[in-house]
Amino acid sequence: MAILPVVTYDDPVLRKTAEPVPEKYPGLDQLIEDMFETMYEANGVGLAAPQVGHSLRLFVVDADVITEEEDGVSHGPGVFINPEIKPLSDDRVEAEEGCLSLPDVREPVSRPDKIQISYLDRDFKFQTENVEGWYARVLQHENDHLKGILFIDYLGSFRKRLLKKKLDNIRMGLVEASYPLVPKEL
Ligand code: NI
Repeated sequence: MAILPVVTYDDPVLRKTAEPVPEKYPGLDQLIEDMFETMYEANGVGLAAPQVGHSLRLFVVDADVITEEEDGVSHGPGVFINPEIKPLSDDRVEAEEGCLSLPDVREPVSRPDKIQISYLDRDFKFQTENVEGWYARVLQHENDHLKGILFIDYLGSFRKRLLKKKLDNIRMGLVEASYPLVPKEL
């Protein structure tokens, strides 16, 4: 296992549409293990493959630290390969999000509260689940990474303007985190 350096805003790999993961993708098991280790080390609740430099439709989550507190439910660690998400209702909820690729940035984001996620699990078995609350939020945030979307993309122009300095500093590699970041070439 290894802790992988995390790619930060606004690296091109975070803006690409990720490629589907083929079955028997070489090194997939190792990548998944390393992503979990990196996520736990960084105290994150989710990590998408593009965040560690792999433009693949894959993310890992373990959001129990939030969902047990906020929703009284636990899901354990999850691996989501080639996921598809659709909202199950028009109800939207706003809550503050952060992202390991945007150290020290936390902003409120409005998202559908109930979703259906279809995906391949670690054994490439097809799964479909209906989920809600914080777990649904985390899955949507991670799934966005596979489409080149960051949560700050949902902010209005006023919030974005307030964030500009912070984002510039991240882009220039002037921020540090408690976990390793991919160094920027200045
Ligand atoms: Ni993120």
